[in-house]
Amino acid sequence: MLTEDVAMSSVTEGPPRAGPQRAALRSRGQFWTPQWVAEAMVAYVLRGGATEVFDPAVGSGAFFRAAKAVAQRLGVNLSLAGTEIDPAALGQARQAGLSDADLADVRIADFLLDPPTRPLAAIVANPPYVRHHRLSPAMKGWVKGFGASLTGRALDGRAGLHVYFLLRALQLLAPGGRLAFILPADVCEGVYADDLWRWVVSGCEVTPELMDRLRAKGRATLLLCPNGRSKEELPEAVRAYLDEGEKAGLPQRAIMKARSPWYRMERRKVPPILFAYLGRRNARFIRNLAGVVPLTCFLCVYPRREDPHFVAALWKVVSHPLTIANLPLVGKSYGSGCIKVEPRSLERLPLPPAVVAEAGLALCSRRRQLQLAL
Ligand SMILES: C[S@@+](CC[C@H](N)C(=O)[O-])C[C@H]1O[C@@H](n2cnc3c(N)ncnc32)[C@H](O)[C@@H]1O
Repeated sequence: MLTEDVAMSSVTEGPPRAGPQRAALRSRGQFWTPQWVAEAMVAYVLRGGATEVFDPAVGSGAFFRAAKAVAQRLGVNLSLAGTEIDPAALGQARQAGLSDADLADVRIADFLLDPPTRPLAAIVANPPYVRHHRLSPAMKGWVKGFGASLTGRALDGRAGLHVYFLLRALQLLAPGGRLAFILPADVCEGVYADDLWRWVVSGCEVTPELMDRLRAKGRATLLLCPNGRSKEELPEAVRAYLDEGEKAGLPQRAIMKARSPWYRMERRKVPPILFAYLGRRNARFIRNLAGVVPLTCFLCVYPRREDPHFVAALWKVVSHPLTIANLPLVGKSYGSGCIKVEPRSLERLPLPPAVVAEAGLALCSRRRQLQLAL
């Protein structure tokens, strides 16, 4: 049997990549946060003015060490508190340079079952990524009930322990408090993600009172929206603002030079399909059911027809593996499956005729697909 010391991800050497040691790490989600990441997260939560940093899963104390470094830089006194389920992990925290005094307010406890009883102003966490199939039946039942009691409905059973850590932390966050969590992509893409985020953003309406509060704090609350009006039709203060921009030479700058008038805002229709590229995951088409308008990072795909049946069938065609396999023909490969495709090139993506037929579509006879510029 492995001892805890061997099983835990080493602070200095990095975690084992495979085998029983890796499996032991996984069962408790014991992977340590790099210091530079921890410092950025701590700096963020402290900007809200908190004097205590709380880590629900202390482990080898990456966030405590980061908090000490940040507090020293800012010249502030900071208290450290947290929970950790595994006493052996705190041994690693000591080895990594934390003192008994630094760890005095760490309770050996389960953050989910035995949480703190006071509101927390600054929470930082790299929660345990324990996947749902590693949870005991009893724990599975408990998280289901907990999720339902908090959000109003049970989350899909595939949500891992990290999701419930986030829920518990949000429940304990003080009004106006700040929270920084490291979370995997499934939190946005998992089957349960819709329910999770609906609950997270409930009550986050933009109200006139909220705008007043932000204005009082000196935050930007105005959006320039000329709505097709000529400069003469705009209020005097707005005209003066635009004059200032002209004096600063903004109309000659790259993007604004191509707009008429130069201060016109781009207004984009919701694209029914998005194309994600140059990310860590492979290039892919996404059916935009959420109706988002991307600012950057995605290409917008506007089909020639907008009826839902056509869009659904087209999405089947573009996301078919045989179509995706054609992407290198129109994009630039950066290795490891990473491809960059320019908007004009994406229009030339060859759609395999068999895939088009299978989706019940016909290749357009009038407008032929654009020829590949090989
Ligand atoms: C991903 S590690 C992160 C540790 C450290 N905060 C860091 O960022 O390096 C997660 C830690 O959570 C602890 N843990 C697992 N389940 C827990 C629970 N239910 N309550 C509190 N801590 C838990 C594990 O022992 C592990 O030390």
